[in-house]
Amino acid sequence: MRALSIVGARPQFMKLAPLSRAFSAAGITHTILHTGQHYDHSMSDVFFDELKIPRPDINLAVGSGSHGAQTAQMLEGVEKVLLSQNIDCVVVYGDTNSTIAGALAAVKLHTPVAHVEAGLRSFNRAMPEEINRIATDHVSDVLLAPTHTAMKHLSNEGLASRSHFTGDVMLDTVLFNRKLADSSRILDKLGIAGQGGYALATVHRAENTDSAERLKGVLGGLEKVGARIPVFFPIHPRTRKCMSDIQFEFGADSNVNLIDPLGYLDLLELAASAQLILTDSGGLQKEAYFLEVPCVTMRDETEWTETIESGANKLAGAIAEKIESCADEMIGSKVAYDPVHFGAGNAAELIAECVVNLQ
Ligand code: UD1
Repeated sequence: MRALSIVGARPQFMKLAPLSRAFSAAGITHTILHTGQHYDHSMSDVFFDELKIPRPDINLAVGSGSHGAQTAQMLEGVEKVLLSQNIDCVVVYGDTNSTIAGALAAVKLHTPVAHVEAGLRSFNRAMPEEINRIATDHVSDVLLAPTHTAMKHLSNEGLASRSHFTGDVMLDTVLFNRKLADSSRILDKLGIAGQGGYALATVHRAENTDSAERLKGVLGGLEKVGARIPVFFPIHPRTRKCMSDIQFEFGADSNVNLIDPLGYLDLLELAASAQLILTDSGGLQKEAYFLEVPCVTMRDETEWTETIESGANKLAGAIAEKIESCADEMIGSKVAYDPVHFGAGNAAELIAECVVNLQ
């Protein structure tokens, strides 16, 4: 079995890491293609280094661009690779432009496609990720679902016969790296080792960054939380640009500390020791739950409804006062991870089995 993994954006590298180990244990010949969607050292290389993922065999170096241009270049690049190599299965991850480009190029060449993190739905079609998810699920041959809710969505769309519940590969990654993250010096670097509570915040969703009103609401919310506990905010390059476009600056006495994007181990350590996580990222909502840290999600809906049902997460939208009141409610609340939701941390092994069975 020769599998080609297609990745390109930060959250995909964390999903690839456990699969790269599981594929090798299952005797799968594994090639890694990086589309180049994320290219900054802090958005890409650092994850390959820290998570000990083999260097990509191929890098399309597509870089930034409009959705159409970026996806089209990837589609063309992946097709060329598939035409020149013998690949039995293409594996795509999550919901980015790299995911849909990889899936579409492969299915048109009749190469079976396995979709890791299938079946997620926000039911918000204004999100580029929602379109990528729906389209990828419908063209893929094997749908690997991280939750039972995802299985239900796939079944509702007539895709049950291609779907498998595997649990979430991001849980595999958290469990594997939790001990290693103890060696991170991030708390010392930020001067907060042993210093009581702080909140970790991230913001990068287009729905928040590309609307001045929403972005002001979210950043205003962080400022309000900062009045209670210090907020550490590793900032995505696009968010930094959007903040400067609307000329937003945190007040001089605000306790919101902007820092550069973090590597995986530093982020894991900072998240695990936080009193509260404020985010619009799908991945961090789950990591908060796995690490049993309460979370406030600065979105109107979430694909990860299990985190809400378990009381670990609260939706605050992009309104500063709502973010503040949700943070007040969540600080100090107890969170306990229930394996019924995202599996037992062996998703990569189960996915490797599904891929081997494609033969
Ligand atoms: C993409 C995914 C999103 C995922 C996110 C994780 C899509 C549609 N969206 O969004 O689902 O949660 O990755 O970060 O695929 N940039 C840099 N350096 C980089 C990468 C990006 O400066 O290494 C800046 C550029 O200005 C670029 C912008 O960020 O134009 C957007 O990057 P892009 O990869 O298109 O989307 P993300 O916003 O990161």
